Amino acid sequence: MAATVSVDLLHWYDQHARDLPWRQPPGETPPDDPHWPYRVWLSEVMLQQTTVAAVKPYFAKFLATWPTVEDLAAADDAEIMSAWAGLGYYSRARNLVKCAREVTAKGGFPQTEAELRKLPGLGAYTAAAIAAIAFGQRAVVVDANVERVVSRLFAIEEPLPAARKAIREKAEQITPDTRAGDFAQAMMDLGSQICTSRAPKCLLCPLAEACQAKAKGLAEDLPRKPPKKAKPQRKGTAYWIERGEGDDREFWLVTREGTGMLGGMRALPDDGWSAQGDGSGKPPIEGVWEPQGAVSHVFTHAALSLSVQRYAGPQAPQGQGEWWPVTRLDEAGLPTLFAKAARLALAQD
Ligand code: ADE
Ligand code: SF4
Repeated sequence: MAATVSVDLLHWYDQHARDLPWRQPPGETPPDDPHWPYRVWLSEVMLQQTTVAAVKPYFAKFLATWPTVEDLAAADDAEIMSAWAGLGYYSRARNLVKCAREVTAKGGFPQTEAELRKLPGLGAYTAAAIAAIAFGQRAVVVDANVERVVSRLFAIEEPLPAARKAIREKAEQITPDTRAGDFAQAMMDLGSQICTSRAPKCLLCPLAEACQAKAKGLAEDLPRKPPKKAKPQRKGTAYWIERGEGDDREFWLVTREGTGMLGGMRALPDDGWSAQGDGSGKPPIEGVWEPQGAVSHVFTHAALSLSVQRYAGPQAPQGQGEWWPVTRLDEAGLPTLFAKAARLALAQD
């Protein structure tokens, strides 16, 4: 079965591969271009937990601003963080900078999966994907798409995460010795276009004949997952402080500390909801605050309702921060949560 799966899948990929800016056409070996691994790495980091559609404009913007890994390594951390704003999972951006610098110091990307794995931010998945796609090496690439396809092909009924071991063994068996990069991307395309979580399109699937879940009528039930825990609901407050009028209006921004939640990103000051969970911190100025309503945002670990308060008095905020022109709000590089909060405050004018 292993051989027919990879042959049938690659044949399908030859005809149906998505044309994506970080990809070569099917069947081609990686180009002899020293900058190619940079594109593959950048795309794979961006694509972790993020859809192709969301990644495309960011990928284009990063390549236009920093065409090589050396350019990225030389950039300011803050500039990279604000270019990443809106993509989410900001630890990826912090690791991106570190990784670019390490790769530049080494004189280029290492070419083996084991060496790639040691770079900042590269887990098992990313290291395997880059080894296969950028360097044409045989590597077993397992992401959520591959987990879904493999658990169905072999009707693995054990629930995740325990099933990961069996899934990896089967993925190992069906990975071909050549075209490992195409094979990995073919599995991803199959998983996102055909073998979808809900309502898989088995009638269009190149692997339908071999598929055990289809034969057993189990396709949509696999992979089995543990019951979802309800996300904790958190509440917090963000503060909008402004000065000036007309085109000179400015608002107060801080840069979040550390490597925790949204660390390194520009933000509105808040009451410490992310650190304390209950948002019981004090406002940055003692005085009269006007409620502006609330915005909500869902993170991986919690759902947040953030109320927005606006300061209407004459005092200036204390501590580290910067005044930012309201007319240039979009360039501030605010994470989505704070961009929503800022728009809410401005909508009350
Ligand atoms: N998701 C992660 N990596 C991908 C790739 N190379 N192509 C399409 N989707 C992906
Ligand atoms: Fe997925 Fe259906 Fe294809 Fe099986 S036959 S791999 S369940 S799309």
